[in-house]
Amino acid sequence: MAKKAKTIFVCQECGYESPTWMGQCICGAWNSFVEEKALPPAKEDARRRTSEGARPSKLKEVGTREYKRLDTGIGELNRVLGGGLVRGSLVLISGEPGIGKSTIIIQTASNIAKTGKRVLYVSGEESEEQIKMRADRVCGEIPESLFVLPETNLENVETACENIKPEFLIIDSIQTMYSDELDSAPGSVSQVRTCGNKLMKIGKTGNIPIFIVAHVTKSGDLAGPKTVEHLVDCVLNFSGERDQELRILRSFKNRFGTTSEIGAFIMAEDGLQEVADISGTFLEGKTEETEGSVTAAVYEGSRPVMFEVQALVTPSNIGFARRTAVGADNTRMSMILAVLEKKAGLQLINQDVYVNIVGGLKPEGTSVDLAAALAIYSSHKSIAASKKTLAIGEIGLTGDLRAARYADKIVKEAARMGYERVIMPASNLKSIKEKPQNCQIIGVKNIAEAIRAFAR
Ligand code: TYD
Ligand code: MG
Repeated sequence: MAKKAKTIFVCQECGYESPTWMGQCICGAWNSFVEEKALPPAKEDARRRTSEGARPSKLKEVGTREYKRLDTGIGELNRVLGGGLVRGSLVLISGEPGIGKSTIIIQTASNIAKTGKRVLYVSGEESEEQIKMRADRVCGEIPESLFVLPETNLENVETACENIKPEFLIIDSIQTMYSDELDSAPGSVSQVRTCGNKLMKIGKTGNIPIFIVAHVTKSGDLAGPKTVEHLVDCVLNFSGERDQELRILRSFKNRFGTTSEIGAFIMAEDGLQEVADISGTFLEGKTEETEGSVTAAVYEGSRPVMFEVQALVTPSNIGFARRTAVGADNTRMSMILAVLEKKAGLQLINQDVYVNIVGGLKPEGTSVDLAAALAIYSSHKSIAASKKTLAIGEIGLTGDLRAARYADKIVKEAARMGYERVIMPASNLKSIKEKPQNCQIIGVKNIAEAIRAFAR
């Protein structure tokens, strides 16, 4: 039942609450305030108060425990979660509509249910039949203990949880859920936040892991769900190009593991398939050395990932030169272009420059700098690398190269993939303990040396 509540204004970007409407929020966003009903005060908090107050513990004496983890039956998902799903944890799975969130979730639900655990899949978006059709397609035989509930009312979900006592709960999606306590629309900041809080209570009291789906826009904006990010234990993001098969799962926040692991999947006819040889998949189609193409590598979590960086440099025929980067950071690219001009003598002033990281990966960190610079050089001068070449290293404003992380592991992977030489910062050389047999390692100090080595 709706309760009397006063009106407040909530920023859709950061969740900041203000008694009056403001043109710009303290987070910097403009026109981001929406009018909402204020949340009623939480009664539970008042009840918890005792005359002694809270009793702090000595940190030294606090025991630690091993988290009990559930195997999701999907290796790549386990890896991103930090080794499986921690009981009682809240996991937000974000991604654009149509990317495959419901697919990975039904696969996980069915895997866990196949081990005999009760799983409840709450969908505010699809009917039972639609969920069944997808499950028939991707799960094989549907296990006995997998329950579905098409529902958008959170109080009803609470009741269903009390009845079924699920050991794994899924909410697809948080934007469709609403609580009777508020009369604002589903998907509004206060609804999302209230539902997030209630779900946390369900998860923590019953020690139930919960997956919460959240839709984001093309620009990666979580809008409403951003306000629950601080509440949940993990925030995973599912990304990829809808017209390509590859999907990347990445964690932005993880209280039970690192945030640098990525999981790779292929969207196939019968659901998401795990990609075991991730470098092989990214490099598919790169057979010979061509102009404007250099292989780069980054170390993601516990494994190296190799991918192709392409560049195209063409004379500009409009007044100003165009610079476009896909998968790489635009500011970083402008810096690399400036260093190439100043420190390697390239004339790029009248040239359009396009840089593309093939395969839809958006690598983090700066060790992709050198490969991007060499790809630009290669396209500009129409010189292809003479051998199968991989390049890693961060470029500084002085043109110097800085060490890349885990260069030894990247070299090992490069040799395994049949690369004939690796161009890397000289400062990385000492970390290479085992020199591979068929792969030449070239240490260079700056961008000019790297170009000489590349063109040789
Ligand atoms: P879905 O999981 O419904 O996306 P989301 O929940 O993120 O909105 O997946 C949607 C797309 O995936 C849809 O366009 C069809 C495609 N798909 C496959 O290619 N193979 C499959 O086995 C399934 C279930 C979906
Ligand atoms: Mg869906």
